[in-house]
Amino acid sequence: MADTRTKAKLVKLRHGSIRDLDDCVNLHHVCMPDALITRLGSKVVKAYFRSILLDPHCTCLLVEFPESARICGLIILRKSSRTRNANLLDLWKTSVIAIVQRPNLIWNVLFESWSNRGGLPQATALIEYVYVHPQARGRGLGHELLVETTKESARVGARWVCTKTANARLAKHYEIHFGAHVVRRNRGFGGGTTSLVLVWPTTSMPVEQ
Ligand SMILES: CC(C)(COP(=O)(O)OP(=O)(O)OC[C@H]1O[C@@H](n2cnc3c(N)ncnc32)[C@H](O)[C@@H]1OP(=O)(O)O)[C@@H](O)C(=O)NCCC(=O)NCCS
Repeated sequence: MADTRTKAKLVKLRHGSIRDLDDCVNLHHVCMPDALITRLGSKVVKAYFRSILLDPHCTCLLVEFPESARICGLIILRKSSRTRNANLLDLWKTSVIAIVQRPNLIWNVLFESWSNRGGLPQATALIEYVYVHPQARGRGLGHELLVETTKESARVGARWVCTKTANARLAKHYEIHFGAHVVRRNRGFGGGTTSLVLVWPTTSMPVEQ
């Protein structure tokens, strides 16, 4: 994948592989400390990334500084609702063990599963996570990842991209730069932060920043 010049400096976008597993897990812990999967522990985060990195129906796109080969951002795209069952089974098993060890999170897990119920509509690709290391934010890297992912979704035949975010500023960014619209509001568990579910067409040319 070609290098891309952002507002700040030259970075490389590339597809992640299982060799990137530990780097992805470390970045996840830095960027998403409050996410439910993070609170379930490192084993669950690792099982999640293993299931993504080994699944041909998923793409993990990484941002890397070529001079140091350090990963400073990533995006996870589920290109279809089909999946490699063996890896998903391992993720479920690891999650069940984690929940047994952290019974206080059981309601959060049930609530999240309930609010994410229903499969993906046909021809829709799902962005599960997008994040950039705190020290590299605000330089256009996140936007670049979203542009590439929207193009990749179109390449695999998806007509829509869908994502969920509790980051209100980012939701505005999706609306302004990708023509996204809000299709659902998920109330957080116990009156927690509300997340917005947004959808945009893969054909809409992203408006440059
Ligand atoms: C959201 C995030 C991926 C954006 O990456 P980035 O490289 O900083 O983004 P860009 O510089 O390309 O800017 C794109 C948009 O990201 C958002 N953003 C940028 N810097 C941000 C920051 N420090 N904090 C929160 N959101 C930020 C803004 O909405 C921005 O759009 P705008 O300038 O039109 O308002 C990054 O800030 C991040 O990792 N945040 C924490 C994790 C998160 O909320 N992920 C989304 C849900 S999984």
